Amino acid sequence: MIIIKRTQKIKDLVNKSHLDGNKIGFVPTMGALHDGHISLIKKSKSQNSLTICSIYVNPTQFNNIIDLNKYPVTLEKDIDKLEMADCDILFLPSTEEMYMNNEIKEHYDLGMLEHILEGKYRPGHFQGVCTIVDKLLKAIKPNTLYLGKKDYQQCMVINKMITDKKYEVRLEICETIREPRGLAMSSRNLRLNEVEKIDALKIIETLINIKKDIKPGNLEEIKINATKYLTKNGYKVDYTEIADAATLEIVSDWDGKAKLVALVAAYLNNLRLIDNIIL
Ligand code: PAF
Repeated sequence: MIIIKRTQKIKDLVNKSHLDGNKIGFVPTMGALHDGHISLIKKSKSQNSLTICSIYVNPTQFNNIIDLNKYPVTLEKDIDKLEMADCDILFLPSTEEMYMNNEIKEHYDLGMLEHILEGKYRPGHFQGVCTIVDKLLKAIKPNTLYLGKKDYQQCMVINKMITDKKYEVRLEICETIREPRGLAMSSRNLRLNEVEKIDALKIIETLINIKKDIKPGNLEEIKINATKYLTKNGYKVDYTEIADAATLEIVSDWDGKAKLVALVAAYLNNLRLIDNIIL
């Protein structure tokens, strides 16, 4: 695997690679890689002649400095995992290059996606995500971008950004990879102790209960019950919501036809967990 740190170097390499007729698949990450990330790498490997992974803990998408400082960094292990997965190139940009001092900050119009769910509880987060993904796409110019469905709203936000900015990139949203008992894989899980790993299963249980209990009509009660279940189990809940799977518009009354997604964000002790399932 080739490791590249300079933006100009990755630009030169991908330009040459495009000229040579390669299809480039790109997996952006913030490191602390797990099997979810590796499944994206493998998907990209199966569809492209060149797979690029980036690792960059992007400061502008953290709305909480403590969360940023505690974000797990496991670069040596990440490199091993990427080599095992046969990733072709690892891009490790620096903050100096990603955020030049005199650069004018771009504002992305994300419509209502900016203000609901994650947007409501993590103000500015999606602007930061778009800023960095925009920069990475400009440098790497991939044919396909691979993202995990666990960050459902992030996928929709990035989809809007690439559509609005007319990027010629196909977005492939890949299934969430789970631990054997159902916990969605996440870099932040490294911060869970053994007891918390068991308690964290309540998140997927809540989502499965919603899927089991949902019926057409008013959905308030089912959402309230989901919140109560998590609160009773020691969580501090940001939201338990049901939304249209295509638009992420919150659904209060279900006609029994629209495809829905249930989403949860809640704190287990000091760790914020998110997950979702299609209903
Ligand atoms: O999902 C992530 O890890 C990050 O939000 C991303 C897409 C790599 C942008 O920093």
